[in-house]
Amino acid sequence: MKILVTGGAGFIGSHFAECSLGAGHSVEVVDDFNDFYDPAIKRANVAGFAKDAPVYETDIRDGDAVRRIVEGGKFDCIVHLAARAGVRPSIRDPKLYLDTNITGTFHLLEAARQCGVPRFINASSSSVYGILKTLPFREDLALTQTISPYAATKLAAEQLCSNYSHLHGIRTVSLRFFTVYGPRQRPDLAIHSFTRAIFEGRPIAQFGDGSTRRDYTYVDDILGGITASLGYEGPLCDVFNLGENQTTTLSDLIAMIEKALGKKADIERKPEQPGDVPVTFADITKARALLGYDPRTKITEGIPKFVEWFLRTQR
Ligand SMILES: NC(=O)c1ccc[n+]([C@@H]2O[C@H](COP(=O)([O-])OP(=O)(O)OC[C@H]3O[C@@H](n4cnc5c(N)ncnc54)[C@H](O)[C@@H]3O)[C@@H](O)[C@H]2O)c1
Repeated sequence: MKILVTGGAGFIGSHFAECSLGAGHSVEVVDDFNDFYDPAIKRANVAGFAKDAPVYETDIRDGDAVRRIVEGGKFDCIVHLAARAGVRPSIRDPKLYLDTNITGTFHLLEAARQCGVPRFINASSSSVYGILKTLPFREDLALTQTISPYAATKLAAEQLCSNYSHLHGIRTVSLRFFTVYGPRQRPDLAIHSFTRAIFEGRPIAQFGDGSTRRDYTYVDDILGGITASLGYEGPLCDVFNLGENQTTTLSDLIAMIEKALGKKADIERKPEQPGDVPVTFADITKARALLGYDPRTKITEGIPKFVEWFLRTQR
């Protein structure tokens, strides 16, 4: 298969590009290497595969540039992972999130339509569930409220995908990722930022009383879900949760990182943040049944693996 991976220099995208090349697919990558976090990390992420996959340094907000890449590629599938991620920064700069995550997605779908790309995999997020009380979250829950600009953009992108399936026959699969972690995890995310702070002897900011819960997903499991979507032949437009179907409190997460590092955290308690949700919890029955999704890495194994990677890359 010939695959265009957007956001292929990022955390999940670089893993997916590598794993697809390893599986024998032909891969091209689009990424603008922006400074949401240190672009040198993104350059290092692509260094291992750039000789095997063209990397276009292109901003998906530029519709003409996106169309030129898609036109030239004759792709069988676009795996769309490029986005401005993160809830809190989206509250500070909502326009950037709308322009990238909604208009950027529109540009890719429009290019797919114009150039006859039959399949589009869209990275969505557990944040679309907002503060729903029905747990665990199932894909068929009615989503009537999002609580951050980031979540609104992810839901809007899903809706654009459903338009393009209905109107133009493009197969779209939106995958709702539940907090993904593992080697190369974004430095802004809790597991990575806590690990670094504890390692360097700096305090960590704990928002709330530590009882908030997340369904944390190891990156290899996410890759299994994305890869399965490449061959999905169910309804033309579909949506799947990709999580682990288990939750961990913030306090337990910090304790696991402390144990893996062999070092106590200096915890600074701060109020809960606007836009943060109290719990995420994935029902993965549908992904198991229809995609053969089979997450295997429990958080108790995944945190030591992450910390082991973190320590190795500090040397
Ligand atoms: N990591 C998670 O826990 C998580 C959870 C839910 C959803 N997601 C989604 O998964 C996808 C990948 O997330 P990630 O954690 O790997 O993030 P990441 O920031 O590491 O990767 C995203 C990549 O997209 C690129 N990008 C951003 N704006 C762009 C633009 N305008 N043009 C071209 N490239 C652009 C960035 O440079 C980056 O390399 C995103 O769509 C994110 O919203 C991630």
